[in-house]
Amino acid sequence: MSLLAGKCGLIFGVANDRSYAFHIARSLVEHGARCAFTSLPGEKNERRTRRAVEKIGVGSPWVRPCDAGRDEDLDAVFEAYTAEHERLDFLIHSIAFADRQWLAPGRFTDTPRSAYLSAIDISAYTLAAMAQRARAPMTATGGGSVLSMSYYGAEKVVPGYNVMGVAKAALECTTRYLAAELGERNIRVNAISGGPLRTLASSAVGGIDVMLERTPERAPLRRNVEGADVGGAAVFLVSDLASGVTGETIYVDCGVNTIGA
Ligand SMILES: NC(=O)c1ccc[n+]([C@@H]2O[C@H](COP(=O)([O-])OP(=O)(O)OC[C@H]3O[C@@H](n4cnc5c(N)ncnc54)[C@H](O)[C@@H]3O)[C@@H](O)[C@H]2O)c1
Repeated sequence: MSLLAGKCGLIFGVANDRSYAFHIARSLVEHGARCAFTSLPGEKNERRTRRAVEKIGVGSPWVRPCDAGRDEDLDAVFEAYTAEHERLDFLIHSIAFADRQWLAPGRFTDTPRSAYLSAIDISAYTLAAMAQRARAPMTATGGGSVLSMSYYGAEKVVPGYNVMGVAKAALECTTRYLAAELGERNIRVNAISGGPLRTLASSAVGGIDVMLERTPERAPLRRNVEGADVGGAAVFLVSDLASGVTGETIYVDCGVNTIGA
């Protein structure tokens, strides 16, 4: 029997077929899950998300617009999802935003307040905002799994990652606090710390080329991560095989975080 048969959930962050969320969705669907999606508001964004999701083999996908920086959009998505689906077993938070102007090596000290706050708002607070809204439907069916995407720049300085590193530190910490409170409802909350992958979001990070170049030299697995590596870890974390795993940040980076020099 498929590992995720009978599970159904909501995925934020499929912009196109290079998105981490696309690879996660593909792996979840391969293992038997049913997935619903959101896109950024706007016809073009929705079309891009639909086109990507259809490549996974999800016919007539459920896609609703959502700017996660707007509480009213989040309310509308969760209301529509719960009205049209009988259960919410998993929630994938694979979104982030920071003004690319401040994502260049040497630009961190100059980050303005507005750029700092919006990076934390969209990239970290939204995890709490989504978990708030997922709590009741997940509780109603005995629990669930919430998963977000982080990066090593949360812990160590990675040139060019800058304010996004601050936001990822907040995201990982938010993961632990949510896990501590929601565990009594059997809702598990984890993050995957993924290696660098060429996507729309990562193209805004000034140091991405260096990260991609250096990883195969330094990583124990001697290669860059692929979307399917993260997809596989997501399947595990969403599945009942991970029933005792919560509050964790799990590295899927070909081991590069374990290397000191
Ligand atoms: N690509 C990498 O190298 C890498 C490495 C580790 C972690 N991550 C993380 O993976 C996640 C997905 O990023 P990706 O690399 O797949 O890039 P991506 O550009 O494909 O995905 C980013 C998503 O964030 C969404 N988004 C941005 N602002 C939003 C808002 N206000 N409301 C709703 N959605 C919004 C975009 O629509 C997009 O779908 C992010 O959290 C990113 O930080 C990426």
